[in-house]
Amino acid sequence: MAEKSTELIHGDLVKKDPTKLRLKPNLQNYEQLRKTFKWSDADKEVEWFPGGKLNAAYNVIDRHAKGSRKNKIALIFDDGEGHTQKLTFQQLYEMMNRFANVMKKLGIKRQDRVFFFLQRSPELYAGFLAAIKYGAIASPMFPAFGPDAIRDRLLDSGAVALVTDSDLKKRVYEVKNLLPELKHMIIVGKDVAAGEVSWEKEMAAASDKFDAVPMDPEEFMYMLYTSGTTGKPKGVVHAHKGIVQAHLTTKMVLDVHEEDVYWCGADLGWVTGVVYGVLGPWSNGTTQVGLGGRFDPDRWYKTIQDYKVSIWYTAPTAVRMLMARGDEIPAKYNLSSLRALYCVGEPLNPEGVKWAQEVFDNKPFHDTWWQTETGSILITNFPEMDIKPGSMGKPLPGIEAAIVDETGKVLGQGQEGNLALRPGWPAMMRQIWKNPAKYNECFRNGWYYTGDTAQIDKDGYFWYVGRADDVIKTSGERVGPFEVESALIEHPAVAEAGVIGKPDELRGNIIKAFIVLTPGYSDSPQLKEDIQKFVKTKLAGHAFPREIEIVKTLPKTRSGKIMRRLLRARELGLPIGDTSTLED
Ligand code: WTA
Repeated sequence: MAEKSTELIHGDLVKKDPTKLRLKPNLQNYEQLRKTFKWSDADKEVEWFPGGKLNAAYNVIDRHAKGSRKNKIALIFDDGEGHTQKLTFQQLYEMMNRFANVMKKLGIKRQDRVFFFLQRSPELYAGFLAAIKYGAIASPMFPAFGPDAIRDRLLDSGAVALVTDSDLKKRVYEVKNLLPELKHMIIVGKDVAAGEVSWEKEMAAASDKFDAVPMDPEEFMYMLYTSGTTGKPKGVVHAHKGIVQAHLTTKMVLDVHEEDVYWCGADLGWVTGVVYGVLGPWSNGTTQVGLGGRFDPDRWYKTIQDYKVSIWYTAPTAVRMLMARGDEIPAKYNLSSLRALYCVGEPLNPEGVKWAQEVFDNKPFHDTWWQTETGSILITNFPEMDIKPGSMGKPLPGIEAAIVDETGKVLGQGQEGNLALRPGWPAMMRQIWKNPAKYNECFRNGWYYTGDTAQIDKDGYFWYVGRADDVIKTSGERVGPFEVESALIEHPAVAEAGVIGKPDELRGNIIKAFIVLTPGYSDSPQLKEDIQKFVKTKLAGHAFPREIEIVKTLPKTRSGKIMRRLLRARELGLPIGDTSTLED
């Protein structure tokens, strides 16, 4: 998979002179703090209700709307088509309260699952937070999902309500009759049919007052479906307590200050969009930019220029795409507002770090490592710390990370092995929805096994090596081979399918499918295109195989499991390893 050369371990260093930084970093003296840090100190960063109760949304919005940031701009929302809306903390607060009252009127109960299938919009931000404030379990879905992906999530979670819009709802109706628990379809927009709830009408009629429900810190706040090696996407569930760490890491790592304008490019369908595009920044009272629309270098640079973005959190594929478009485009814009750049989702090539230094006036990217399951950045490059381009940086204070073997033995410096974490941080997932076995699989020998392999250098910097499993990271997005294979074999021409990630300069990996055709079908460019389109519309716009190879047979174990490892080895010309379980 995304193998990385380790010679870089001794490569360049981006030296930092803390006295030259525009603002003094919130985190001073990392090494010292690592020694003294206690998670109980972090609890003081958020407000609690009597009896040890907590509500994440209260901390994200209410405390600012009730305090000195009442009229501060919370959200600058640009729909990507030329319309900009600015909302203060007070305005978001009122919108959120109205929707909480709508949920109450519908009879939604505490910890019911309330899903969102919406383009990024003020409605999405306010609705998502309202569900949390109300005590429901909120879950945003990526707007590129097709009917199969929608069905898997709504069915498994037993969602009772879905907020969507006039356009996206069509994809939901393709599978609606398979979702007996889905009682309420709440529609943003004009096209509201009988049996549906009109967002506009109900919001106008609802009160803008609603008191946050005091939750037990362990009660659930949000869930997100993500991909593993086997089976359908799994529902990773997070508790209200997670807000403590979302707050702390946004402050310590993303280093938000009162005057910052912060932009996180991730959609709310991904964990980055939830934790660092909603929870963490607003909990810190930060002004955030939300940008709709697709990738477009001019619009992105213009966003930085026009809204004077000072902190930018993006993804390596986006950086590579910007690099590929050349340096003349950024040269047209005034990007001097930027003071810190961050990245997440896949390895960030050293070239990307260096390119940014040139284009953004000596500001390198800070790579951050984390997962849907970890709920927060855990290994990262801090603002005050020197950067080794290509390294993920160092563990957060309070986090014990190590490279371990299958028995849990800790490996030494420079040795490659499983990236593992000592469980017990506040933002860690609490559950995999209705699947305790899957949850328990991750915890072995007293460690949480991340599924990544990595190594640590002599200075304690962590270096990503690859995935230990078959999970595919394409353009930073996490895709499970099984989901793609399942969608593929629904096509009449496909008898069998095996799916792998194939390294790609731009996207990190692309999805490649090996297919055995149903008798009667023959290979043609049209057929391949038709299969690609089929997966795109059924599953998701980003989760289709960019490459399809027709094969006569697929390597399988005697029990019939496709050996993706062999497909990958063959594709990449790697040694094929142990084949003792191979069927033929
Ligand atoms: C990968 C995204 C290399 C990794 C927040 C991890 C990374 C998976 C990095 C989680 C990084 C994330 N360098 N790889 N800085 N950050 N990954 O759940 O394989 O969508 O396990 O969460 O992305 O993906 P997820």
